[in-house]
Amino acid sequence: MPELPERVDVLVNNAGGRGTPVAEGSLKEVAERWRKDFDTNVLPAVLLTEALLPRLASPGGRVITISSVAALRGNGAYGAMKAALQAWNHTLAGQLGPRGATANVVVPGYVAGTELFGGPATEEELARRRAQTLVGRVGEPEDVAAAVAFLAGPDAGYVTGEFLNVNGGTLLGR
Ligand SMILES: NC(=O)c1ccc[n+]([C@@H]2O[C@H](COP(=O)([O-])OP(=O)(O)OC[C@H]3O[C@@H](n4cnc5c(N)ncnc54)[C@H](OP(=O)(O)O)[C@@H]3O)[C@@H](O)[C@H]2O)c1
Repeated sequence: MPELPERVDVLVNNAGGRGTPVAEGSLKEVAERWRKDFDTNVLPAVLLTEALLPRLASPGGRVITISSVAALRGNGAYGAMKAALQAWNHTLAGQLGPRGATANVVVPGYVAGTELFGGPATEEELARRRAQTLVGRVGEPEDVAAAVAFLAGPDAGYVTGEFLNVNGGTLLGR
């Protein structure tokens, strides 16, 4: 078990994943799928944050949670879990505000070069994703990192309870 620092300045809740979509199945299978997506996406963020709250810098601490555009346009259990994180962030921002700490959510669209979809995308898939954006390119991990860095940095101290979309214009203003 790694030693935890006495003070945590920035916590980024990044862990997450999409379960295998189940088009049909018994109610038991559907329940298992939803519970698995809950365990993968919601509980790690909530439990890690709860565990670190006593150590979060006050003032100045930052909690940044990674959601997904799926929370805005649907995508079965995965989208619902990401939407749950965004609702939870409101509560968290309320808790942290009096301590001078912030809680925000970065909401990425498709990001190339990750393992989220189980391997590299085909050229056809990349072209389809590119065409969904306004800027004519797919997201890169650096795009998400830049948004996280902004929210973690000194210029974002008055930003809390927000959702920062990083999707190249795939979905506007939600
Ligand atoms: N890639 C995209 O297009 C995209 C778009 C929108 C949002 N996101 C979000 O961005 C975040 C990062 O994903 P990614 O794109 O980097 O995908 P990724 O390449 O699949 O990485 C996900 C990472 O999360 C870890 N992880 C998953 N569940 C975990 C858990 N319960 N406890 C600890 N670690 C866990 C995985 O570890 P293992 O490999 O050991 O399981 C893996 O290292 C996720 O929250 C994802 O939902 C991604």
